[in-house]
Amino acid sequence: MTSASSTLPSFAELGLPEKLVSALERRGISTPFPIQAACLPDTLAGRDVLGRGQTGSGKTLAFGLPLLARLAGRSAAPKRPAALILVPTRELAAQVQDALAALGRSVGLHAKTVVGGMSMTKQIQALRRGVDLLVATPGRLTDLIERGACSLEDVQITVLDEADHMCDLGFMPAVSALLDQIPSNGQRMLFSATLDGDVDKLVRRYLHDPVTHSVSPAAAPVETMDHHLFVVDRAQKHDVIAEVAGREGRTIMFVRTKHGVDALTKRLARVGVRAGALHGGKTQSARTRTLADFREGKVAVLIATDVAARGIHVDDVTLVVHVDPAADHKDYLHRAGRTARAGERGTVATLVAHNEVRNAERMMRRAGVRALRSRVTVGDDTLIRITGAQAPSGIPVEVEPEPRPQRRGHRPGAGRDRRPGGQRGERYGERREGGRARFGERHEGRPGEGHDGTPRQRPEGRSGGPRHDDRPNRRPEGRRPRRETAQ
Ligand SMILES: Nc1ncnc2c1ncn2[C@@H]1O[C@H](COP(=O)(O)OP(=O)(O)OP(=O)(O)O)[C@@H](O)[C@H]1O
Ligand SMILES: [Mg+2]
Repeated sequence: MTSASSTLPSFAELGLPEKLVSALERRGISTPFPIQAACLPDTLAGRDVLGRGQTGSGKTLAFGLPLLARLAGRSAAPKRPAALILVPTRELAAQVQDALAALGRSVGLHAKTVVGGMSMTKQIQALRRGVDLLVATPGRLTDLIERGACSLEDVQITVLDEADHMCDLGFMPAVSALLDQIPSNGQRMLFSATLDGDVDKLVRRYLHDPVTHSVSPAAAPVETMDHHLFVVDRAQKHDVIAEVAGREGRTIMFVRTKHGVDALTKRLARVGVRAGALHGGKTQSARTRTLADFREGKVAVLIATDVAARGIHVDDVTLVVHVDPAADHKDYLHRAGRTARAGERGTVATLVAHNEVRNAERMMRRAGVRALRSRVTVGDDTLIRITGAQAPSGIPVEVEPEPRPQRRGHRPGAGRDRRPGGQRGERYGERREGGRARFGERHEGRPGEGHDGTPRQRPEGRSGGPRHDDRPNRRPEGRRPRRETAQ
């Protein structure tokens, strides 16, 4: 990262154990980023910390390194993890685990992920063998605790990544119920690029004398990120999107609803652009495969709902497109933050119709970013110059059909919610359509948790209108969009 200047102390000077310093160097990480240098003295000393750093600024290691350093050499008792990292989505859990598991092994620590949509039996077995660091989404962890497979009574270090999101309406009850089970004398760390909202409530209730580390002002734009507002005639929007998607280079396009993601993915396939579709209505295996294909470069375009907006890091994403506007300025920043990470350059484009310009500009002002506004059409020079847009081949590509998921409900103990009175089904997160559970869409979650561990707001059918998938039900600033009934 460009801002990680040589004047910053080294990891060793900051007090990180030699084994961790070497393990970092083996991964090509030798100089701390500013948020890491700022937090490490306090976090290593065991203090509670609130950490805010821009998207892509290295917060995962800012909380992960002190956690591993302070636990090094200890061994957790069966079912009793010593540290817990709570995250909002399954994909983010996997990513945090990837970032920390190998580093943890270098100091004798074993990390494990527990998230919905994966075998609960395997998670129970792993916990029985002993897990030092647990990375979890709140719903699945709550389930495991209720089954007696896990206890938080030995947790000494707790991290909430994307802490402001974890305080959103849908997550708060589950998160605070979990925090209530953790001994109050342990260390707590809250991190996000946007620490506001109800974070204060968590701070007052669960943190002791916390230090705040914020390496840039709340609304400071990422310097290496360019923002553009493209005003497009509605009639041309599909074609403009197809040209942008036809560019070379890794692109993420954000769409508000699951249906919208699937529809755009199919439309692009018809004109010759192979894109991966990621949203909370897909099976976990499909979600994992799609993200892996994107990471490995098998597809250059990812079409996603906001399930991919928080925390997800994929190298070399050079363009983020808001096909549908973000729900608010915070979501704008998190979506945008999938590009221009760790000092790289990146471009963010928002496509709007004429009547959407004012709201979009207001949102950007609140996000603290300045966007260049241009009117664009198909084949437009500005569009080509800024995004590298090019006409797709027009030769349809096949969209791989998603394999039908195995019905797991009949296997005893296979992650079913066995509550008295047969209270599974829609109350416990099972997706229903027209009153019937859709085959294969069974969800092993908790009340209030969606397929990806993200919260639900209201049971389907009672919301009085369509709503966002993957996110709590919030109205975009200044507009009342049509939202898909979710999950
Ligand atoms: N000290 C470092 N030196 C080099 N690369 C680093 C360093 N710290 C982190 N990185 C890399 O920077 C990238 C972004 O880090 P990370 O995902 O932790 O960002 P973040 O601040 O959590 O972003 P977000 O707000 O989007 O969650 C990762 O690829 C990570 O490996
Ligand atoms: Mg992060």
